[in-house]
Amino acid sequence: MGQIDYIKEIAKYGLENDQKNLLDSLQKIISYYKDSKRVNMALQLQSLVKNAKRQSGQLTRVGSDHYFNQQSQREIDELVIDKLHSEYRLKDLVIAENVKEKLDHFIRENLSIEFLRQFNLSVSNKLLLHGPSGCGKTLASYVIAGELEKPMYIVNLGSIVSSKLGETSKNLMKVFRKATQESCIIFIDEFDSIGKIRDYNQDHGEMKRVVNTILQLFDYLPADSLIIAATNQEKMIDEALVRRFDLNLEFGLPSEKQIEELIELTLRSGQFCLPKDIPMRVIIDTCSGLSFYSIQKTLINAIKRTLFKQMDNKNISKVVDTNIWLDLIEQEKKALKKD
Ligand SMILES: Nc1ncnc2c1ncn2[C@@H]1O[C@H](COP(=O)(O)OP(=O)(O)OP(=O)(O)O)[C@@H](O)[C@H]1O
Ligand SMILES: [Mg+2]
Repeated sequence: MGQIDYIKEIAKYGLENDQKNLLDSLQKIISYYKDSKRVNMALQLQSLVKNAKRQSGQLTRVGSDHYFNQQSQREIDELVIDKLHSEYRLKDLVIAENVKEKLDHFIRENLSIEFLRQFNLSVSNKLLLHGPSGCGKTLASYVIAGELEKPMYIVNLGSIVSSKLGETSKNLMKVFRKATQESCIIFIDEFDSIGKIRDYNQDHGEMKRVVNTILQLFDYLPADSLIIAATNQEKMIDEALVRRFDLNLEFGLPSEKQIEELIELTLRSGQFCLPKDIPMRVIIDTCSGLSFYSIQKTLINAIKRTLFKQMDNKNISKVVDTNIWLDLIEQEKKALKKD
């Protein structure tokens, strides 16, 4: 074949959007130029092909099944923040005894789907987590994903809820259809955003439509997949929807016992400790009213500052400077009051 035949082939496959044959023909003409010592031409073409591959990941025939799958994957990617595998376990979460017991059961059920099926019993796989910010709702979902060893899709509700009529339902169906093709967890954070539809749309039918879509999706959820929704504004969610969750767990601010447990957990992970002469009572009283997140954040910052203070020392003490910590807690309280 001569140069003109290769060019004709390239034109043909290019116009037909047949990327696979187009690539083959390009490789052929590259070899042809190399063989005929037109190395410069060969190199230029090779670099064009390389760049195109890098940009599109893999070249695909437009209109092929692979192309459509890629398109739908791209649409899903926009609606999902992340797909992750979690290493978190129950030991990483500090919660009230009665909440822990319910969570244990929920996990156990989802580990025993086959066993329950023998007795015609369905598994509880729809969980709603609610409570104030920084008290472990997202962490609890990671713990469930870790304990069940299932991948978790984190759904971006902000991009799912649309001002266009009918679009929110369509988006929800897309995500569910994709996610439930594999045994997985769908985590919908800020579930109360669903309530925004009311503000977006004057048409009251839209809200009903979205709620109905969610209820339908709940009904079709495969037994080996789970939905976890989280909110710190439970009241914003339609009551009919709240009722359809199998389990509703409340995550509150830490009790005195939980403050102690959280401190222990945070210190243990870095083998740090508090000075013996400072009464736990003082620490608990100072931390009281703060979320798990704020307590942990200030403690970790205090540990870092304690270490920085000793940077030039030969022996570094791992006893946390509680003056630094108590000061950071006061600052955190002030900052929270401003909000
Ligand atoms: N109950 C808890 N036990 C242990 N650590 C916790 C707990 N709650 C919060 N934390 C710590 O605070 C971080 C933030 O908590 P998390 O993201 O789970 O809060 P949230 O309830 O989802 O808050 P938001 O409503 O703002 O999303 C966690 O990654 C963890 O380090
Ligand atoms: Mg969260």
